[in-house]
Amino acid sequence: MAGKRVRVAGVGDLQPGEGCVVDAEGRALALFNVAGSYHAIDNACVHRGGPLGAGDLDGRTVSCPWHGWRWDVTTGASTTNPALRVACYPVSVEGDGVYVEVG
Ligand code: FES
Repeated sequence: MAGKRVRVAGVGDLQPGEGCVVDAEGRALALFNVAGSYHAIDNACVHRGGPLGAGDLDGRTVSCPWHGWRWDVTTGASTTNPALRVACYPVSVEGDGVYVEVG
């Protein structure tokens, strides 16, 4: 079944190099702007649940603000431990809105 598209932000709410925590129908997601393209992953770090949307973004890698585990925001893969991953969601821009497809 196709996922549901949810508007989570407006274009321009997030500058390149920034991230934030957004709500997609009750699910907390971390949304990032990597050089003008948007990416969304689960906000909760799989280590202890740190808020990835509040972490520092360096290129396409965010550092968890709690203990520093690093995640590729374009894939959800951990760059600290390749065996780990957080869910990654398709993002699209339509008009002035940023939409995430959630399952
Ligand atoms: S909660 Fe993210 S590194 Fe510990």
